[in-house]
Amino acid sequence: MRCDVVAHLLFFIPARRDKPLMPMEFFLDTANLDEIAEARDLGVLDGVTTNPSLMAKEGISGRNQILKHYKAICDLVGDGEVSAEVIATDFEDMVREGEELAEIADNIVVKIPMIKDGVKALRHFSEEGIRTNCTLVFSTAQAILAAKAGADFVSPFIGRIDDTNWDGMSLISEIAEVFAIQDYDTYILAASIRTSRHIVEAAKAGADVVTCPLRSILGMLNHPLTDSGLKKFLEDFHRTNPS
Ligand code: G3P
Repeated sequence: MRCDVVAHLLFFIPARRDKPLMPMEFFLDTANLDEIAEARDLGVLDGVTTNPSLMAKEGISGRNQILKHYKAICDLVGDGEVSAEVIATDFEDMVREGEELAEIADNIVVKIPMIKDGVKALRHFSEEGIRTNCTLVFSTAQAILAAKAGADFVSPFIGRIDDTNWDGMSLISEIAEVFAIQDYDTYILAASIRTSRHIVEAAKAGADVVTCPLRSILGMLNHPLTDSGLKKFLEDFHRTNPS
């Protein structure tokens, strides 16, 4: 059994991360090792989230390969948290799978879908001292239920709500408002982020974490006035400092 689980059981240490999530943290939503290394080398990587679609995109399949790939991601991320999603949809198998995932590394967070057995599993893992991220959240009601069941993170899917012509970001604002009023300590992890603007809006709306593709983070670098300003600075320098 993992030592933090033993500590939790013996000394009733709460199964929560001990650092406050302020300011908003940046997670990468990918299973691509090169992208994770690039974000880490940029110095802005706080964690990684994955899902079965992202693992499939990298061609990762089969129990051993999946566990090995999660280990490689955990090693790259270091102290940051890595969300690894269960495939099971019934309580017993979710528990079995989640415990196996949690054994991979101390920074694993077990990702559980927002379904009835998932809520039971969130409560179970919370009592076991295994951290969880409740995924596929599309309403404040679902977020409250996940928080009530002891989820460490709740993942509202912004982009997919926008895809249906609703306002995904207003969901983040409402969850943030309710969690503050009710003093829930579940972190709001804004997921399904598609653009750099989404990152800005998630920060304004009160997300604790944003998880996004590398391109959305790199997109934050861009402004045409930065490019033209730098070009002019360098031209002026080279004009007055001919080599
Ligand atoms: O990992 C969950 C979420 O971030 C998926 O995003 O772009 O597939 O809607 P997306």
